[in-house]
Amino acid sequence: MEIIIQPSPEIATTVADRMLARLIREKPAATLGLATGGTMEPLYRELVAMNLDWSRLTTFNLDEYVGLAPGHSQSYHTFMRENLFAHVNIPKQNVNIPDGLTKNIPKFCATYEKRIQAAGGIDLQMLGIGTNGHIGFNEPLSSLASRTRIKTLSPKTRQDNARFFRPGEEAPSHCITMGIGTILESKHCLLLAFGKHKARIIAQAVEGPVTSMNPASALQLHPKVTVCLDAAAASELKLKEYCRWVFDHKPGWQKS
Ligand code: PGA
Repeated sequence: MEIIIQPSPEIATTVADRMLARLIREKPAATLGLATGGTMEPLYRELVAMNLDWSRLTTFNLDEYVGLAPGHSQSYHTFMRENLFAHVNIPKQNVNIPDGLTKNIPKFCATYEKRIQAAGGIDLQMLGIGTNGHIGFNEPLSSLASRTRIKTLSPKTRQDNARFFRPGEEAPSHCITMGIGTILESKHCLLLAFGKHKARIIAQAVEGPVTSMNPASALQLHPKVTVCLDAAAASELKLKEYCRWVFDHKPGWQKS
């Protein structure tokens, strides 16, 4: 696992954007796994400003709320349209986001998995992390071998997300999410976390035991994970000085 610690969220975002941009330039028909959440907004804004060619890319989003139509203001379809897809030249048919209104969830999920396989697998999977350690919407106690499926959101996640819903509007209780097993099959995972409120869960995910109580800890089992942090999110890592040293002294051949 490579841990990159930058002084601010802005600089860490730029580092992650450069990684994404390099992949898009080197592999114009790459398959990207995309995430939503506040952490991703500046990342997509900067990516849009890079004016890259998205015409041959395929994307798969991690998750969507069950019961929200694509046009709902809080759906992840809307998030992706507003933050990214409306501003880049990706063909509509290359965009994959779980359907929160599907009538047959198990069948939809099995098809989603097959579509990822048919696209050659995910080259780079973007990930945020919840304050409870979720990646995608794989809440604590998710099977580390799980595949795309319906999940019940934890009270913590519902509480964290309630701010996005209007007063009196019930935050959804269920979602469709790629599984941890699905995420672990990506060729490269890039996790971003910023802010002091993420420090404890990041330290546990990176330095703690692999446990379904902290789903992000499963990334320790993946051969290629990059974790991009600001100083606040890295503040509880025991090995933060070592991580900084490793990054600052990376041999030139390893930098590509
Ligand atoms: P955030 O969400 O980027 O809004 O903190 C991350 C997540 O819950 O995965």
